[in-house]
Amino acid sequence: MPRNGDIGSLTPAHPAAPAPPRLLELHRPNADAMRAELLAGLAAPTATIAPKYFYDPLGARLFAAITELPEYYPTRTEASIFAAHLPAIADAYGLPGCTLIDLGAGNCEKAARLFPALRPAAYVALDIAVEYLTTSLECLQREFPSMKILGVGTDFTRSLALPDEVTHARRLFFYPGSSIGNFTPAEALAFLQRVRAAMAGDGALLIGVDLVKDARVLEAAYDDALGVTAAFNLNVLNHVNHLIGADFHTADWRHVAFYDPEQQRIEMHLQAHQAVTVRFNGGARRFARGERIHTENSYKYTPAQFAAVLRDAGFQAQHHWTDERDWFALFLASAQ
Ligand code: AVJ
Repeated sequence: MPRNGDIGSLTPAHPAAPAPPRLLELHRPNADAMRAELLAGLAAPTATIAPKYFYDPLGARLFAAITELPEYYPTRTEASIFAAHLPAIADAYGLPGCTLIDLGAGNCEKAARLFPALRPAAYVALDIAVEYLTTSLECLQREFPSMKILGVGTDFTRSLALPDEVTHARRLFFYPGSSIGNFTPAEALAFLQRVRAAMAGDGALLIGVDLVKDARVLEAAYDDALGVTAAFNLNVLNHVNHLIGADFHTADWRHVAFYDPEQQRIEMHLQAHQAVTVRFNGGARRFARGERIHTENSYKYTPAQFAAVLRDAGFQAQHHWTDERDWFALFLASAQ
């Protein structure tokens, strides 16, 4: 198996091998900004750690495990909607031939499943770090040798600027997995307005949205019997220890997840078993027994609510598809 950094010497010089995909870095995650954000979050009256800090190497693996849990329905429900409706989705706005822009591509698996029906001319995978894309894009390029593939390391929540070579193509932005749920509704609207503005005319957006449903189903999905979500939540403390030299002990904390029907969101917190003082580079904080650190919100929408957000963001036309239980929706919105 080729390993990262070893690819050159381990890949045989095969005459039919396609040119490797181009990779570039537009926006390095900024260590100083991350440190400042974490310190501010820990100093706030209700301490917060933003959900993007879940995804260190172990956190990314724990999230992958979450998607396999019986209780965590979003990933497999979204996949079932694609399986049932992909041809209709691809036909809706004449998408074949577009440039597919994947927001948070990771292992590129979801986008690759679209390729046969969508037949994009080009695939642009965006992720926070270009290292996450290297291996998966090389594999994809071998599978689809004639497709133009580009990997871009960028924080697309800050900037949707794309390299010049994809500026003029018709763009389909792809934002699966209900990651939009991590934004507040106001932030989601602002983000979707920016996506709409990045379309240069006649683009479209394909986005996965988790729907409002029975609180028991939601709470089980975020507090599973095996404790994988608890481990995922607690692991953020290990990551923060690494980033700011903190001395969190995961054993001092417990996972809390509940649905707030008023705000239509799952909240995840870490709650201190006992009073504890945490020290880190640049400060310390004492937590009282039972005090919480807010680590994630995951907003749920009704189809009508999300349709309204897309309209407010300036999308002119839209369709959506759901599963038979109406647990998850895929929206396709057209700029024009
Ligand atoms: C990756 C943001 C879509 O909110 O369901 C899963 C993250 N957190 N279990 C979600 C998550 C706990 C997930 N998103």
